[in-house]
Amino acid sequence: MAIVKVKNHIESYKLKSFSESINELSGRIDNRLTIYRNQIIMNKVLSSFENVVVDIGCGDATLLNSIQHKVGIGFGIVPSSEEKDRLDKEYSDSSVFILKGLTVALPIEDEIATTVVCNGVFLLLENEDEVIKSLLEIKRVTKKDGTVWIGEVPFIDEVEYNARNYGDSILKWLVFVFRNNGYNSFFKAIQRLIRAIFFGDTFLINPKQFFFIRPEKFVGVCEMLGFEVVEILNSKILNNCFEEEDSSTRYDYILRKN
Ligand SMILES: C[S@@+](CC[C@H](N)C(=O)[O-])C[C@H]1O[C@@H](n2cnc3c(N)ncnc32)[C@H](O)[C@@H]1O
Repeated sequence: MAIVKVKNHIESYKLKSFSESINELSGRIDNRLTIYRNQIIMNKVLSSFENVVVDIGCGDATLLNSIQHKVGIGFGIVPSSEEKDRLDKEYSDSSVFILKGLTVALPIEDEIATTVVCNGVFLLLENEDEVIKSLLEIKRVTKKDGTVWIGEVPFIDEVEYNARNYGDSILKWLVFVFRNNGYNSFFKAIQRLIRAIFFGDTFLINPKQFFFIRPEKFVGVCEMLGFEVVEILNSKILNNCFEEEDSSTRYDYILRKN
């Protein structure tokens, strides 16, 4: 039986790198959602030909992969050797390099990035202190006037908002899935459990703590650290029917390094 209670988000993504589908590294259940999010990022900050793009917490590297012929050079940063190895095996483009590193310690030279993307990562950071250290690192690697995308930052506690208060109980989680996502998702959840119990697939019990910050506070922190906040957007998402809508819990921020 391979039901694993994971101690933090980095550990969770490390284990996801052994999944059958590389798309699990995006943290989304369907790759169409990742492609959709990437399209928004590309339209907003990657529309012109860039010299050096750094994608911090690049997940399954869908974004870098789709822009590889438009950029001079792309760096994808992932926090574990396991994720790096999986991505290296999957992609072999000479203009995209996958490096192991953390938001707080980027393995990148000072001031080389024309564009930095960090989407769906800040919510996985531990606390405000780590957020500040990460922003300082992003500032260090970004060129003057360079653009920074910090996407999918929750402004409220999503666990509470979505009533995901099942803690580590699998039974309560199943009830939640049935009530909120319907019979199909419930059936898939049962299948996953059965595969873990009888066939050795890994079933992760993930951490339930996610970072969130009000936009006025986040803007204050960014400005204090030397960024200009160019735009704040409601994160656009696709709902269960794949229709576009505004997220009710997350914002995207576009910054410029002064
Ligand atoms: C939710 S996925 C987002 C992937 C991608 N950016 C996207 O939007 O499709 C989170 C990614 O951030 C990485 N990550 C988590 N904590 C990190 C940290 N402290 N430093 C760097 N990357 C981190 C994970 O390993 C994973 O690759």
